[in-house]
Amino acid sequence: MLKMDKNQKLTEKFNQIFPGGHSNFRVPLEATQNRLFVAKAEGSHVWDVDGNEFIDYQGAMGPNLLGHRHPEYVQALKDLLDTSSTCVGSGVLHTPEDIEVAEKLLQHIPCAERIKFCLSGSEAVQMAIRLARAYTGRPYFLRFGGHYHGWFDNILGGLIDPSPSAEPFAVYDPNSDPWEDVAFTHGRGPTSDKESFLLPWNDLDALEATIEKYGDQIAIIHFEAVVCNHFNLMPKPGYLERIRELCTKHGIVMSIDEVITGFRLGLSGAQGRFGVTPDLATFGKALAGGLPFSAVAGKAEIMDQLRDRGVLGPGTFNGYPLGMRAASATLKILERDDGAAYKEMDRIQKSLEDGLQEIAGKHNRTLRLQSERGVFFTAFGIEKDKVLYTEEELMTIDLETTLGFWAAMAQEGILVLAGGRWYMSIVHTDKDVETTLQAADKVMEAL
Ligand SMILES: Cc1ncc(COP(=O)(O)O)c(C=O)c1O
Repeated sequence: MLKMDKNQKLTEKFNQIFPGGHSNFRVPLEATQNRLFVAKAEGSHVWDVDGNEFIDYQGAMGPNLLGHRHPEYVQALKDLLDTSSTCVGSGVLHTPEDIEVAEKLLQHIPCAERIKFCLSGSEAVQMAIRLARAYTGRPYFLRFGGHYHGWFDNILGGLIDPSPSAEPFAVYDPNSDPWEDVAFTHGRGPTSDKESFLLPWNDLDALEATIEKYGDQIAIIHFEAVVCNHFNLMPKPGYLERIRELCTKHGIVMSIDEVITGFRLGLSGAQGRFGVTPDLATFGKALAGGLPFSAVAGKAEIMDQLRDRGVLGPGTFNGYPLGMRAASATLKILERDDGAAYKEMDRIQKSLEDGLQEIAGKHNRTLRLQSERGVFFTAFGIEKDKVLYTEEELMTIDLETTLGFWAAMAQEGILVLAGGRWYMSIVHTDKDVETTLQAADKVMEAL
């Protein structure tokens, strides 16, 4: 059992002051009553105020691809702090590093002909939508159930309208089951439910029918190529290619949300991994290895609308030097020796996944590891080789064991994200794998 005295006292104070915490969703998670307060972090480990040590697979929800306090990253930030400013009036003063970082993005990201920097993933997504609406002169955007694109009114959560005759707008239902729409919120603006069409992921018939009917009113299709926010639901073979064809045919902007996949799946992100090039893509999280920094990258003719001020993209902190330095350092580390850091992460991830599968077998459990580079899910009750593509398939998961495993692993000092999402970093080690597998063995035995 974890020691929780100091954590518990701080939790009580924290919960009084911060309603809901720093980032909240609708599902009640016991974790909010047992918050951990970090005293120290190093590499792949964190220590809390009670002295508990954890192996961290939460990765701060994605940014910490380099782990904590990567020495080269920290030194690069220190060098900037010693010589220049963290912030030099964005849009007024610049640093040479702006160009260096942007050129790296142009080099690595297939769709990138121009770059726009923002701060959060949510902002980058809104920027992409604005650019696409301006470019096409069309009002709506299309997205898919279970994908997450930030917290703004027009894109947060929603249910798919079950009626085949209804216009396929996202439905915001306050009475919906929290597990069905974890991102329902009160307080949206009055038109937010008439901004986006929401369709089931991987349902080609629904997509084709919607585009056939409404294609000339749809500005952009924005989606996660692998649904990292929802058990890594994979795109069915040919699905991304078909989205590409439909977008080209109907003059719709194809936009891949690479806020998680960008620089995690590799330097060229999901678009490189699947070999399908969108018109726009949004980046955040791992791009700057732990500082707020995001980007839209895309085709010149769409992005160039920002040039003549026909489309605005203001922001006090956009392109701020400390974030720029963080992105520069992150990319240097990831690029080095032909991506050696990724290869080492692959090796460690494989050894961890193989070990988890072996332990599941030993305890007669079926376990599906829905895996991409740097991010995987532990889904119990699904056959090992069954690739999960759709919501319906996901419904067959053994949710109790899946959630129970995640919660019990935390008690053993292994921090995995709620529901069983594991983020790898380039600094996880063989020793981490060994310790994690010992914990998994104990937990699976007891579950
Ligand atoms: C795919 C995706 N897009 C956009 C966002 C929003 O990014 P941010 O939380 O930085 O606003 C997230 C955040 O989790 C995300 O996972």
